[in-house]
Amino acid sequence: DRQDRRVAVFGAGYIGLVTGACLAELGHRVVVRDIDPGKVRTLQAGDVPIYEPGLGDMIARNKERLRFTLDIGEALEGAEVAYVCVDTPPSVSGDADLSRVWSVVRSLAGAAHLRAVVVKSTVPVGTGARARAALDEAGLTGTGYVSNPEFTAEGRAVSDFMHPDRIVIGADDPAAGALVAELHEGIDAPVVTMDVRSAEMVKLAANALLATRISFANEIATLCENTGADVTEVLGAVGLDHRLGPHFLRPGIGWGGSCFPKDSEALRQLASNTGFHPMLLSAVIDVNNIQKRRAIQRLKDVLGDLAGREIALLGMAFKPGTDDMREAPSTVLASRLAAEGAHVRCWDPLARHDKAEPWLSATRYASPEEAMGGADAAVVVTEWPQLKDVDWTRAATAMRQPVLFDGRNLLDPVRMRELGFTYMSVGRP
Ligand code: UDX
Repeated sequence: DRQDRRVAVFGAGYIGLVTGACLAELGHRVVVRDIDPGKVRTLQAGDVPIYEPGLGDMIARNKERLRFTLDIGEALEGAEVAYVCVDTPPSVSGDADLSRVWSVVRSLAGAAHLRAVVVKSTVPVGTGARARAALDEAGLTGTGYVSNPEFTAEGRAVSDFMHPDRIVIGADDPAAGALVAELHEGIDAPVVTMDVRSAEMVKLAANALLATRISFANEIATLCENTGADVTEVLGAVGLDHRLGPHFLRPGIGWGGSCFPKDSEALRQLASNTGFHPMLLSAVIDVNNIQKRRAIQRLKDVLGDLAGREIALLGMAFKPGTDDMREAPSTVLASRLAAEGAHVRCWDPLARHDKAEPWLSATRYASPEEAMGGADAAVVVTEWPQLKDVDWTRAATAMRQPVLFDGRNLLDPVRMRELGFTYMSVGRP
């Protein structure tokens, strides 16, 4: 039955869980395997270890078709397709660390009944060719290798999986590619088939271009500050050109998260491994690093020396709607502020500040108002919608000095100045 395939998913992280749940939702029988006993126990008990809207409900309603296990044998029993969804963090050299991918591939030895091994993890171009050799060595000569990158954004991963702009499939065996395309039956999206190396490159190129647009917006914002133009007006009108479009042109305090920083570095490393220095990509990364530090400079312009100052950071997650602090600009701000001798106060409705090392020196508050009370300055780091509802009139009087750097252009400059704030934002006069 085309809608009742048996699928093993390796890795119960962010991508593995979303992939497993969505494939079960599409009618397949899925076993998700992870090496972390705590995580597997949590999932078996019906809880979801990550925050992702809709994921918990989807897992619950598919529990007949979706199991979690520590056991490789149980995951592989009768499986036609194995998905590799383990993480590929940067290694010391800057290359992606593929040790988890290789350990999954090795563990497939003997599972010659698999018709396809699908890698969803973001990997350097050329990984598929190495995986091919490893699969052959493990006796899986008849199993196709498929690169099937994901383009899901956190906070909307379930909907991105079920309603993608495209499904990219790079297969070294047409039958395996066709099988993976068939697994997605029920999803209305173009399936783009190509060779393995190109599929691996699509993911890196797409993320690099999105990051490029944001760094571009940030650079134009600085130019607007220097010339008196308003970046919101400028990029709003630029984005109306149908060749450009409005997305990913919002200036801010820099991009973060689990993908852009890691993937742009990985692509840069990949390029330099081929003897090529990617000038544009390097500049995109530099602009982003500078953008986070500019926020500190702008506070110094108003406050002078930051030593002993109380600074409130409003929002810690790398974007609203997630608890994820990976590569969040807030972490750079917090540790830079601490290095300047400031006391960092923070607020976030979801982020787990105990998970991030640099935050150990920051004090957590339950509300933005409490974080700002008595502070010398506040910074809007993440554009949580809750921040729009803050009683800014009271906040202005409760602060020791009403200095506000709005790193996400969330608030109205005219109103904030009327309330007495020394208000700064990104690229707006
Ligand atoms: C991103 C990609 O969108 C997704 O396709 C890929 O698979 C993984 O990386 P994600 O990291 O979840 O997803 O977040 P996204 O919403 O894309 O935002 C990334 C960062 O860019 C955030 O820090 C966000 O604040 C910032 N951003 C985004 C801007 O500064 N300006 C924008 O206009 C858009």
